[in-house]
Amino acid sequence: MEPHTFTYQRPELAASLCDSLQGIGIADARSGLFLAAPRRTGKSTFLRMDLLPALQKKGWTTVYVDLWTNKATDPAVLISNQVKNVLAKFAGVIAKLAKSAGLEKVNVFGALSLNLSSLSLPDNVTLADALEALALASKTPVVVVIDEAQQALSTPAGMDAMFALKAARDRINQDGENQKLFLVFTGSNQDKLSHLVIKKNQPFYGCRIAKFPLLDRKFSDQYTAHINAKLAPSNQFKADDVFAAFKLVGHRPEMLRNVIADVALDAGADTLAAQLQTGASSFRERIWGEMGSEFAALTAIQRAVLGRLIQEGKNYSPFTDASLKAYSALAGKDVSVGDAQAALLALREKNLVWQAAYGDYSLEDESMVLWYQSRNALEAT
Ligand SMILES: Nc1ncnc2c1ncn2[C@@H]1O[C@H](COP(=O)(O)OP(=O)(O)O)[C@@H](O)[C@H]1O
Ligand SMILES: [Mg+2]
Repeated sequence: MEPHTFTYQRPELAASLCDSLQGIGIADARSGLFLAAPRRTGKSTFLRMDLLPALQKKGWTTVYVDLWTNKATDPAVLISNQVKNVLAKFAGVIAKLAKSAGLEKVNVFGALSLNLSSLSLPDNVTLADALEALALASKTPVVVVIDEAQQALSTPAGMDAMFALKAARDRINQDGENQKLFLVFTGSNQDKLSHLVIKKNQPFYGCRIAKFPLLDRKFSDQYTAHINAKLAPSNQFKADDVFAAFKLVGHRPEMLRNVIADVALDAGADTLAAQLQTGASSFRERIWGEMGSEFAALTAIQRAVLGRLIQEGKNYSPFTDASLKAYSALAGKDVSVGDAQAALLALREKNLVWQAAYGDYSLEDESMVLWYQSRNALEAT
């Protein structure tokens, strides 16, 4: 096995989330399970390798949509197309139901059965209709997993799709006893995900956002063993050092992989502890290199706008006098409202900054804050 195919699995976590979905155990996520953790910490991998298989093993029908796979397509379209894809697996049953379903459903099944080979849902079939049809046709509970769900907030249609999921949940689960539709949402940014749940007029008002558990010491220990098996006996990593490095990279497997590979080939595994301890700037650069080069490639005004957003966090307001002054100071030249607007647009296109449909700006990747602080600390020394 090559190093990059190493996968650490968390079946216990999957089992406990399945329990939460059903309201068994400590957490009750029957109205929707919301999980947030930073970008690149293993959410999608966990969903694909652990959670979806666990749900399928229970006999449930799963619909998985990652709203980041194709940012050019409207999130609403991605969701309904994926529901359509899964429905297509039940073509035979749907054709039968089109003939025999009760009056109120016959139109939906009729439209679906005529349309099963096309990619999208027929115009007169709503997302809620399609999900209800899926539960009926599959005769199993249906679980819809929306990965990077906050992306749905970026378009009005995406937001409508979230309301449609909620409507479907309420309609399909009406009888209360046997829940048939379960919803799972993950996101790389807790702030953004919370826009689905905190206000009365938001689709999942009242749901709690849980922290998706980061990969832990068990992961880094298994990874250490895995990597050591490929190295000469004289060039071995210590589990403690690898775990320390893993924490430093924000529990991101890919970044750990890069650091470890560099160190192993470069200075040798036994130097990892020393590099961690001295916090050598070359080592920090190695860790933060990717973000650093992304940042360095920006214009001075874009850097200033991004820096201000990072410093202000939730209180960030892009076009106030105070912000314009701060931009100018950071950029070392006068920054106008128009300049700031153009910079924000460019930052959004680069997936560094995110803007909700109603105007709030936030970071696409919250871990940039840590990086920015470490960069400033480094510059101050
Ligand atoms: N359990 C795991 N074992 C090994 N590698 C992992 C694991 N989880 C994530 N990774 C690696 O980390 C990187 C980011 O994972 P991903 O699931 O895409 O994160 P996210 O969805 O949170 O952005 C990928 O390169 C993936 O291979
Ligand atoms: Mg992902």
